[in-house]
Amino acid sequence: MALPTSFWLFLSFSLWYCNALALATTTHGPPTTPFLFPETKSTVVPNPARFFSSHLLSSPLPTNSFFQNFVVSNGDDHEYIHPYLIKSNSSSLSFSYPFLLSNSSMVQQIFVPDLTITSLNKTTPSAILNKRHRISSFSDLSVTLDLPSNNLRFYLVRGSPFLTCKAITRSTYLSISTIHDILSFSSDASLTKHIIKLNNSQTWLLYTSAPIRFTHSVSQITSREFSGVIRIAILPNSERKYEAVLDKYSSCYPISGDAKLSEPFRLEYKWEKKGRGKLLLLAHPLHRQLLSGNIVLEGFKYKSIDGDLVGVIGDSWVLKLEPIPVTWHSIAGIRKEHFPEIVSALRKDVDTLTTISTPSSYFYGKEVARAARLALIAEEVGYPKAIPVVAKFLKNAVQPWLDGNYSRNGFLYERKWGGLVTKLGSTSSTEDFGFGIYHDHHFHLGYFVYAIAVLAKIDPASGRQYKPQAYSLMADYMNVGLGSYSYSYYPQVRCFDPWKLHSWAAGLQNYTDGRNQESTSEAVNAYYSAALLGLAYKDNHLKRIGSTLAALEILSAQTWWHVREGNDMYGKEFSRKNRLVGILWANMRDTKLWFAPAEWTACRLGIQVLPMTPITEILFSNAEFARDVVNWALPSLSLSGLSGRWKDFVYALEGTYNYTSAIAKTRKLTEHDDGSTLANLLWWIYSQER
Ligand SMILES: *[C@@H]1O[C@H](CO)[C@@H](O)[C@H](O)[C@H]1NC(C)=O
Ligand SMILES: *[C@@H]1O[C@H](CO)[C@@H](O)[C@H](O)[C@H]1NC(C)=O
Ligand SMILES: *[C@@H]1O[C@H](CO)[C@@H](O)[C@H](O)[C@H]1NC(C)=O
Ligand SMILES: *[C@@H]1O[C@H](CO)[C@@H](O)[C@H](O)[C@H]1NC(C)=O
Ligand SMILES: *[C@@H]1O[C@H](CO)[C@@H](O)[C@H](O)[C@H]1NC(C)=O
Ligand SMILES: *[C@@H]1O[C@H](CO)[C@@H](O)[C@H](O)[C@H]1NC(C)=O
Ligand SMILES: *[C@@H]1O[C@H](CO)[C@@H](O)[C@H](O)[C@H]1NC(C)=O
Repeated sequence: MALPTSFWLFLSFSLWYCNALALATTTHGPPTTPFLFPETKSTVVPNPARFFSSHLLSSPLPTNSFFQNFVVSNGDDHEYIHPYLIKSNSSSLSFSYPFLLSNSSMVQQIFVPDLTITSLNKTTPSAILNKRHRISSFSDLSVTLDLPSNNLRFYLVRGSPFLTCKAITRSTYLSISTIHDILSFSSDASLTKHIIKLNNSQTWLLYTSAPIRFTHSVSQITSREFSGVIRIAILPNSERKYEAVLDKYSSCYPISGDAKLSEPFRLEYKWEKKGRGKLLLLAHPLHRQLLSGNIVLEGFKYKSIDGDLVGVIGDSWVLKLEPIPVTWHSIAGIRKEHFPEIVSALRKDVDTLTTISTPSSYFYGKEVARAARLALIAEEVGYPKAIPVVAKFLKNAVQPWLDGNYSRNGFLYERKWGGLVTKLGSTSSTEDFGFGIYHDHHFHLGYFVYAIAVLAKIDPASGRQYKPQAYSLMADYMNVGLGSYSYSYYPQVRCFDPWKLHSWAAGLQNYTDGRNQESTSEAVNAYYSAALLGLAYKDNHLKRIGSTLAALEILSAQTWWHVREGNDMYGKEFSRKNRLVGILWANMRDTKLWFAPAEWTACRLGIQVLPMTPITEILFSNAEFARDVVNWALPSLSLSGLSGRWKDFVYALEGTYNYTSAIAKTRKLTEHDDGSTLANLLWWIYSQER
């Protein structure tokens, strides 16, 4: 038996390390036993048993996923499973090849039920329990949705140009109807390929695993007894030349797909398939940028709010990205001559550290992370006196949350879906910005993880003491690939979407436009902080996973939130008027924020920049783009109602291309955002000096 060399290298390295440093046995690597926060019964989470098959209920369930609408409320809001919008009610499944509406204030895909599939054979109405659709399985890249009352199963695989449907047990009579008019319907001689032309200029191809003779009317086609698999795809632009492509790949269908972080900065997809031949799937623009090795059908395009999707052949994909550095201190360093100014600000900022008055998990997290920054800046600019003061503050501030005896809030474990909720959130779906229904976990916990990583660095004894809790907080949103010490009571990744390649903040609530995320910079912060936790505990594995997800989140932010002039993904008017998306939804791009109107562009800038840490430099690595964003946001600073605290972020970004003017403006500031300090702002701008 031969183990891979790298395994041995790792083993011998760690043995050497433990011998060399006796202390390392306690600080090195992950905790030996996973820590579980005290359990609670939430009164506000929905009951997953309404939609998930019973065999899935004993494991943690997805709370921020691409199919979340199917399992909350009535389960009948549509979801975007590229390239189709899909809506399921208890008795039928409708799908839409959406068209894009775009103006200067929003971009949205419109759902029109182009085709609706159902069965003419219903189970008896008395089978009430079976009336709802069921999720019978799910994976990173797919969800399998059953209509038990109709004997139909749908393999909904992301990026599949074919919608795949199967009769579950016995044979069934199929019905495919449309709200449009069927202009023509034809079947080939084998009766396994059929063409539906609609009066909205769409052409749909229908493939069946066995011959079927359909009858049709102007709005419906129906089959006789059928017990196999059917696949339906729209012909891109109704162009005949692509019919051969769909023909060729129609007989191989994916039923599930996994995403694996096998190595740092490398993500692999592998689909489980049935039928004959190779898989044809569609890649979005970021896939296209990272994909290596597969045959790409460049002309074979489907339109999408996320940019054109192109055909890719293969049963697995490899996505490779450029490594990014994860550091405690500024990447390029700061010139010594600026130290005194930073130290003077630091002194005053450290003096402001008293007790934290807010019980909100978000604002509390922001305040501890803000304090933690001061210790790292003190290290960098040579002011060690501040470090023990910050350490003491951090320890006192995070301890009650980690010990579970903070009287005003705390972290608890909720078993129905499998994750943390706050004490306040366990009885309210709005407290802590909906943390109790799984909104924003990576944002809030990211700040806590950041603070604890810094505490572990500057106060190793506290680091050792709270390591189990620190890992448990991190694993609530990033449990992926932790190997033997992964947590069986959390899902793999809560917020990160392995297909879209960024996170979703919205949790267990139905939304017409699917999941959403506002702040990409706070999402980056969550994975960056997890990587820092890895650095603090000398856990290389954790560091690599955190940095890989941070790198993907950054690329996604640059692809879909950062809007370049002339970008044609979102339409001319939208890209002329906007440099940043406000809230990105699966099915919409909004210019509003949850807390501010579209005109408050400085807020839109701020929420995509905060908190400023070394990783911000990678997120805004393009100084020309930063200049465009600042010029777009500056005028809004004079709007009445807009707090002057947002200036922090405008000037921070200005620092990337003009640090002298940014410093001059920063010196005049009289107030700062609650997660920001003068010392951090000066530190950041000086770190941008070129
Ligand atoms: C489900 O959708 C179909 C097609 O739109 C409709 O005819 C049916 O009444 C709906 N059923 C329910 C329970 O809403
Ligand atoms: C853009 O379209 C949306 C939806 O149709 C509409 O509500 C909004 O007023 C439009 N905005 C502008 C600036 O035209
Ligand atoms: C399905 O429905 C059709 C039409 O209502 C009926 O003729 C046929 O016998 C049914 N088949 C089964 C298996 O129930
Ligand atoms: C297509 O048919 C539908 C349903 O009859 C009708 O409402 C619609 O106006 C028609 N569209 C066109 C472009 O003719
Ligand atoms: C909180 O719990 C910890 C650990 O059990 C204990 O050391 C600490 O004294 C407690 N703090 C308070 C305020 O009760
Ligand atoms: C969620 O679903 C309910 C029931 O269908 C509906 O009344 C509500 O408007 C939906 N909420 C959102 C935000 O779409
Ligand atoms: C920086 O800003 C100042 C003040 O607005 C301006 O005079 C200077 O030319 C700018 N420098 C660069 C490199 O853009």
